[in-house]
Amino acid sequence: MSGRIPQDFIDELIARADIVDVVGSRVSLKKAGRDHQGLCPFHDEKTPSFTVSPSKGFYHCFGCGAHGTAIGFLMNYENLGFPQAVEALADMLGMDMPAGAADGAQRREDGGLLALLKEADQIYRRALRDHPHAIEYLKQRGIDGATAGRFGIGYSPDAWDTVLRALGRDEARTAQLIEAGLVIRNDKGRCYDRFRDRIMFPIRSPRGDVIGFGGRVVGAGEPKYLNSPETAVFHKGQALYGLYESRGQHGRPEQIVVVEGYLDVASLAQHGVGPAVATLGTATTPDHVRRLTRLADRIVFCFDGDRAGRAAAWRALETSLPFAGGNVELKFLLLPEGEDPDSLVRSRGGEEFRRLLGEAQPLSQFLIEELNARADPRGVDGRARLIAQAKPLLARLSPGVYRELLLEELARLAGIEAPRLAALIDAPGQRSEGPRPAQPPRPGRKRTRIGRTITLVLHYPAAVAAAGPVEGLDEVDEPGAPLLRQLLEIAADNPNVKSAQLVERFREEPDGKHVDRLAREPPPPLEDEGGAPAMLRDSLERIVQEYAQRRQKRQAVEALKRRPAVN
Ligand code: UTP
Ligand code: MN
Repeated sequence: MSGRIPQDFIDELIARADIVDVVGSRVSLKKAGRDHQGLCPFHDEKTPSFTVSPSKGFYHCFGCGAHGTAIGFLMNYENLGFPQAVEALADMLGMDMPAGAADGAQRREDGGLLALLKEADQIYRRALRDHPHAIEYLKQRGIDGATAGRFGIGYSPDAWDTVLRALGRDEARTAQLIEAGLVIRNDKGRCYDRFRDRIMFPIRSPRGDVIGFGGRVVGAGEPKYLNSPETAVFHKGQALYGLYESRGQHGRPEQIVVVEGYLDVASLAQHGVGPAVATLGTATTPDHVRRLTRLADRIVFCFDGDRAGRAAAWRALETSLPFAGGNVELKFLLLPEGEDPDSLVRSRGGEEFRRLLGEAQPLSQFLIEELNARADPRGVDGRARLIAQAKPLLARLSPGVYRELLLEELARLAGIEAPRLAALIDAPGQRSEGPRPAQPPRPGRKRTRIGRTITLVLHYPAAVAAAGPVEGLDEVDEPGAPLLRQLLEIAADNPNVKSAQLVERFREEPDGKHVDRLAREPPPPLEDEGGAPAMLRDSLERIVQEYAQRRQKRQAVEALKRRPAVN
């Protein structure tokens, strides 16, 4: 593909870049053993849990889970796209971008999807003008023309092929429409528009490109909202609806309100409350919180007063804990039962809504009141419950004054001395010395031996040559095995390859997600790095053994099945 930045160039960039320089020119770092340490720039903290490893070429935060290479750091810290980050790093190192790469950069990133989404957006906007019942619906929901224009609200006509016919000129374009999430191909191979007879809310990137849509049925119907699927340019865990529309209004906002729905965002804006943003039918993620804390000094999470809203607020609290206690204030507002921001601002007005926002609870208060309500800490049972529930929450806070103060509050509530509570909370098993894991282990994602071995290779690529080849590995036919073999091959051929180079080589590959996830995992504990080859060899041998055993078992079972029934 023309315009692609050659992998060799990225490889060389990572080989030459000193990640300590790259990070250190933006974050103050101190040497700690072989690594460097500092306060994490991606969440607020008082004691450093952010480390940079020059040998691996990774940065990693044990507090919030931020992790990546020098390129990844520039993308996250400077809010750059991949090609821009590559360019920035090349500039720093005084390397020239390869010819053609720079102009092709944009295309490489989105594969033409952004242009297609833009065209679809225009089709939907035009269609809104031509469909009075859709305009009528918006009016009835209290959205005026100016607000509809500001958010680019549109309408997808009640037909199977509006976008398909307008944009799906040929097979290649149709394939792109599918990639963009605008068109669906069913089992029989028939293609049709995903969005039909819906009010369309374009979701824009911070740069203003349309990256996806949310579509609401006009009136009643199921599902009420239909969203674009995840695509190369649309990531629900990162996108925030309304962010772009709220920017450039008055510079850096003092506060950002986080709500649940598209219409809440639009309605608040119309009533002069804001800026407000919404997650896209998903729970608040660490990426969301990280992004928000960089944009304003106060974040107010505003949830509906029903059960679902309370649950969502609690999840948002858990996600925000690593960011609490810093310079950015995190607050929570639960609306009265049966109300959402849209209904409330419409019935009571912007002034009153702002007043309610002013009364939002600080995170600590919300946490304590909610724990109090859940555990009911009267009597021994309730107090034990309270401590048990507080434990994982406190473990997610960065050590420091904030954590101490919260601990004291909780101790008061549990009716025990703070040092005793601290001892209980830090009891072995949960947290011991040293940094704690970034995220609680995700349920249902048990790490396999192959996964753990890939993590080992990613962290200690030099161990591969020393471990030597292991017989039988080529036959292993299990998820992850091809990736493992690929990594082993690269590392064996390039004994000096840095961990970060391995990660960057896979960034654009289908396996990139897995490589990134497995590189974030801590490597198995080793006495010292010299033990890595032996551990790797052992892991590889076990993979081969276990596979052989499983295969034998399977064959035995099949042989049994094939045996004619004797009767
Ligand atoms: P709500 O059900 O609270 O709807 O969903 P709402 O925002 O109040 O919408 P209106 O006022 O009835 O129009 C909140 C958000 O959850 C996501 C959407 O992002 C929606 O804005 N959602 C909801 C879905 O993704 N799918 C659904 O079927 C429903
Ligand atoms: Mn609503």
